[in-house]
Amino acid sequence: MQLRHFQNRDLADVWQVASESLRERYDPTLFTQLVPFWPDGLLVIEDMGRVVAFVFGVMSGVQHARVLMLAVDRNYRGAGLGTLLTQEFFRECGKKGIRQVSLEVRASNIAAQRFYQRLGFFTVRRVSKYYSDGEDGILLLRYL
Ligand SMILES: CC(C)(COP(=O)(O)OP(=O)(O)OC[C@H]1O[C@@H](n2cnc3c(N)ncnc32)[C@H](O)[C@@H]1OP(=O)(O)O)[C@@H](O)C(=O)NCCC(=O)NCCS
Repeated sequence: MQLRHFQNRDLADVWQVASESLRERYDPTLFTQLVPFWPDGLLVIEDMGRVVAFVFGVMSGVQHARVLMLAVDRNYRGAGLGTLLTQEFFRECGKKGIRQVSLEVRASNIAAQRFYQRLGFFTVRRVSKYYSDGEDGILLLRYL
């Protein structure tokens, strides 16, 4: 298994993991559009030639980053990959002097909320109808 930066050739794999794991439907071009902004904020874990987990983050202020997407292939969950990716993402943030990381999670996604709490995130507020299907989001924040 290898943790590394995203490369354009990973696009199909990342798209597949995202489609299977995340309820939000993302425009496929979003993935490549993100690359020029902060390539180091796009991390993947590859196993046997296939991407099985990824995190995509962006810088959204001088000292602030946002996690846009984090997903682990169903068959690889509960094995620490999500934690590994998030910690590596924090390291990349540290190199850029980022002091805060935020993200939104579905109000119904209790497993993910617990996962982020273990990683030091706390709830800032509920964001009404954040998702395209009308579900509320929970805004989480972590100080680095
Ligand atoms: C949320 C998600 C990214 C977590 O990734 P993961 O690799 O399964 O998480 P980890 O293995 O690093 O788990 C960390 C902790 O959560 C627990 N955990 C998380 N998911 C688990 C699962 N499916 N089965 C068992 N334990 C799980 C682990 O036991 C671990 O706890 P510990 O540190 O006390 O032992 C992953 O479950 C996922 O892709 N979910 C669907 C997509 C999603 O909800 N993304 C987040 C949207 S914002």
